[in-house]
Parts: sequence; C-alpha cells; structure tokens
Amino acid sequence: MYRGKLDIIPCTLYTLPSTQMTRIALFASGSGSNVENIANYFANNDQVVFTKVYCNKPDAFVLQRAAKLGLATRIFTKEEFSGSETIVQELLDDQTDLIILAGFLWMVPAALVKAFPKHIINIHPALLPKFGGKGMYGMRVHEAVVANKETESGITIHYVNEHYDEGPAIFQAKFEVLPTDSADDVAHKIHLLEFEHFPKIIEKLVKN
Ligand code: GAR
Repeated sequence: MYRGKLDIIPCTLYTLPSTQMTRIALFASGSGSNVENIANYFANNDQVVFTKVYCNKPDAFVLQRAAKLGLATRIFTKEEFSGSETIVQELLDDQTDLIILAGFLWMVPAALVKAFPKHIINIHPALLPKFGGKGMYGMRVHEAVVANKETESGITIHYVNEHYDEGPAIFQAKFEVLPTDSADDVAHKIHLLEFEHFPKIIEKLVKN
C-alpha cells in the first residue's frame, strides 16, 4: 500500500455538541467509495449514526452501495437543495450534528452553511488551494495535476464555507506524482489516502 508523507495542518477542531451520539448526514454525487469506506469504519461504533446518504444524481452508484450497507437514501433536486430550504429543514428535523461531503459536487448554498456553521466537512482530491474551485472535481483534478507536471499531489479535508474549496483546512496528506503517472494512477493514490485518513479525521471531530 502506498503511504505518502503526511503534512498535518495545525488547526482548531470545532467542538460538536457533547451528546453521546453524533448524527451524521453523508452527501455524495458519484461512485461513493468514500461513503462505503466511512460507513464500514464506523460499523461497530455506537456513538455514530448515519442518518441518510443524500445524493443529487438518481443513477449514482453510491445509491447501490448505500442500499447494500443498509443506509437510508435521499435523492434531491437542485431546487430542493439550493432553490429552497427543503434540505436544510430535513437535516434539522433529522437532528443532524455533522454533514460530511464525500465526493459531493454541488456548491453548498449559504443557507446550509449558516444552519450548520463549522459542521460541514468536505474532502478534496488535491492540495488546496491548488486545483480547487468551480469545475475542479474528481478526474478533472487529476488530469490537471498530470497536465501541469506537478511533482506532488494529495488530499485536503476542510470545513465548508460559501465558497468552493475555500473553508479552513483540517488536514492534508500528500504523495509524489511520478513523471510516468497517469491521471488514473493519481486517482488511485488519492483514494488510498482518502480511505486511510477521512474516517479517522471524522472520528477526531466526533470525539472532540
Ligand atoms: C473523491 O476522490 C473526492 O475527493 C472527490 O470526488 C471523489 C469521489 O470518489 N471530491 C471532489 O472532487 C470534490 N470537489 P467516491 O465517489 O468514490 O468517493
């Protein structure tokens, strides 16, 4: 297994309400390998409850993974997400403590950030602020990293604010990009780092 050199950014972890149980909503748009990895990591942890997997794409593979994992799902429209407060209200009704964006590609509307300040966490497949912003997601990021002949790339886990990929960073880990690496190779290395670190960072946030 590839192990990149770790760079941990010193930062404040904002405290979650000190209840016994943390109710987590997962948001995803695509394959959902991170959702599956996170769900498996916490499978035997009775302090964490996954309320629902929220998804904006009715044909996304994450929905099949969620069904297999026994997780409830909620497919929503753009209007429900950012044209109204439907989803904000559902998250509040569900008594959500923490929102995890695990491969979620829409920008989070201001109303949602306002309802859950410092309680929305995103993972981005690059070393932000590099290769972030609108249109920079998934394979597009890896293709840009290779085209730019970057010598390193990595992951960033960060708080979400109203601007794409600009919230304060919580954690970064990086690896060397070899001259022979394709975008697929970079994607593979990214996923290994994500699988290893994302659940552990969530666990840290939950424990704080
Ligand atoms: C992950 O690599 C995640 O970092 C990225 O999408 C991929 C989803 O993979 N997120 C973004 O690009 C957000 N801007 P998955 O669906 O297999 O978890």
